[in-house]
Amino acid sequence: MKWINIFEKGIKSGLENDLRSDVDNRIFYSLEKNPYPDSLIITGDREKIIKNLFVSIDIDVSVILLVNQLIKNGIKIDGILSHHPTGKGLYSINEVICLQRENWLKAGIKETDAQKLYEKVYREEKLDTRGNYNSPENAADLLGIPLMCLHTPIDNIIQDFFEKLLKNKKELKIEDILEEIKEIPECKMASEKGDEPFIIKNPRAKSIGKYFIDMTGGVDPPDEIFKLLKKTGIDTIVGMHYNSDNINAITNSRLSAMICGHMACDSIGMNIFCDLLEKEGINIISGPGLYRYKRNEKN
Ligand SMILES: [Fe+2]
Repeated sequence: MKWINIFEKGIKSGLENDLRSDVDNRIFYSLEKNPYPDSLIITGDREKIIKNLFVSIDIDVSVILLVNQLIKNGIKIDGILSHHPTGKGLYSINEVICLQRENWLKAGIKETDAQKLYEKVYREEKLDTRGNYNSPENAADLLGIPLMCLHTPIDNIIQDFFEKLLKNKKELKIEDILEEIKEIPECKMASEKGDEPFIIKNPRAKSIGKYFIDMTGGVDPPDEIFKLLKKTGIDTIVGMHYNSDNINAITNSRLSAMICGHMACDSIGMNIFCDLLEKEGINIISGPGLYRYKRNEKN
């Protein structure tokens, strides 16, 4: 598969799983107008044929050096796919926060409130002190290793996975849902390494109730959203990970939360995408953070 075709497949998968019902695959997507600016080919010849792809959740210079060493050791690797963005993708992460706004609107948040919070997070992310996000690109360029990141398209796959998983389960107790999530292979593998899913429970909650799945949109949500979600009738938030301010805001809003694990959830999305690549004949080499589980073979 050509390097560019892997990228296009990633964007297409993102669109197919996009929570925005008005996203039109044909109109919205062209390489000139990438709908997910946090995902792009960082470096590498677009026409290069890729047979062996190294896939990691994070990317930094040490991962590029690891790959270079593996190549020296005789392992065939033609390119690196990272989930988390780097370089221009990371500088542009504010451009995907609009997905969070759409998700809030779908949950019933008033348009003026959603827009106000969206603009606040967008501005904060844009003004955030900019670090040197280009080091992985520099390293990959110097070593001649193609590098790409696919962030929001993969998070959209994760969002869709959990929407399907929880469908028609409103009446179940949060503890029962937790047991089910613990059985997801990626969550099981993460748990074995000490990174297990957990719940924060509103003591008054009898079941998971009306839930809000929060797996896409680039960055941590603003603390203010939790009170508003509670006001619209949401009982439980389902996410991968939250910062401590978010967790305090969730608790203070008397919401329950199901926290499924960052690396486990990102692995679910990457695995579903890697299964698609394997069908095209690509060999996947698991890198840092990826709990590889092949759904192709089991179904
Ligand atoms: Fe992530």
